[in-house]
Amino acid sequence: MNFDPKDFRRALGKFPTGVTVITTRDKNGERVGVTASSFNTVSIDPALVLWSIDKGAYSLEAFSEGSHFAVNVLRNDQVELSNRFARRGEDKFAGIDVREGLGRSPLLPDTAAVFECRTWNVYEGGDHFIIVGEVLNYGYEDNASSLVFHNGRYAVPEVHPAAKSPTESLQARGFLGDYLLYLLRQTLTAYREDFYPRLSHFGITTEEWRVLTLLADGRAQAAQDIAEHVSQPVEALLETGEWLEDKGLIRIDGDRLELTEKGLGVADQLLDMAIEHERQTLACLSEEHQQTLKESLKSLHDRLR
Ligand SMILES: Cc1cc2nc3c(=O)[nH]c(=O)nc-3n(C[C@H](O)[C@H](O)[C@H](O)COP(=O)(O)O)c2cc1C
Repeated sequence: MNFDPKDFRRALGKFPTGVTVITTRDKNGERVGVTASSFNTVSIDPALVLWSIDKGAYSLEAFSEGSHFAVNVLRNDQVELSNRFARRGEDKFAGIDVREGLGRSPLLPDTAAVFECRTWNVYEGGDHFIIVGEVLNYGYEDNASSLVFHNGRYAVPEVHPAAKSPTESLQARGFLGDYLLYLLRQTLTAYREDFYPRLSHFGITTEEWRVLTLLADGRAQAAQDIAEHVSQPVEALLETGEWLEDKGLIRIDGDRLELTEKGLGVADQLLDMAIEHERQTLACLSEEHQQTLKESLKSLHDRLR
């Protein structure tokens, strides 16, 4: 089978993962770390985990020949750390208050979990090496919410909206049925499920929709800036860009992205569709209630952030 690598990567992106930063020391004692989403469990007894490292990575030797490494599982507010450790080389640890773990592997502060490992074995894996570690020590934060990577984008884990309506005993206490967090979550889920499939009529994915709407004013923008707005690592954003370029919707010039004539037309249609969808959804409320709803949500957001 001769796969198109871009398409293969896109298919793999359908499998959501967490995001880790794997750290160690190189043979000169320098701190090394890479962002990796390939982390996974292998065995409970003995306690084994694995991840895979690109053979082109700057820090390949430090991991394939090192005796220890630490897996730092990122929390959902640590996107900046993920982006920082996904950059090649350079001193990625500047300004970070690390602790020293087993084998002197640097441990990042405030992560959701950490697994300190002795390298158990390194296996050949095509353009990657598969590194299996024996977990010698671990820790985790009970209420931490972990960062997720899905469809090339950072995401947050959400409890699946329960299909059943709240039980009578909880409803009687005004809980769930009338509880704000429940109402917000159910409404957001239902709104998304109603809206996003409409993008398919335009042959557009949700990742592409976000990029198109950001560029809709016609100005060229730097990939780095767009990536921050759409919550994608720059490499993943550039991949979304290439898909849009293949469809003739954007032009990529160096590190800048810009809509083509065709792209401007599609972005306009998408924005019109989104506004019309919102109008129809809110039609069950009076004009005054619609205004109150939006203003209340904005005030609440200001209060909480
Ligand atoms: C979300 C995300 C997940 C990644 N997962 C991996 C991975 O599992 N293995 C890998 O080798 N690189 C992965 N990368 C890319 C590396 O972090 C990137 O190539 C980094 O530059 C490697 O650092 P180095 O070249 O300094 O060794 C990932 C990047 C991101 C943004």
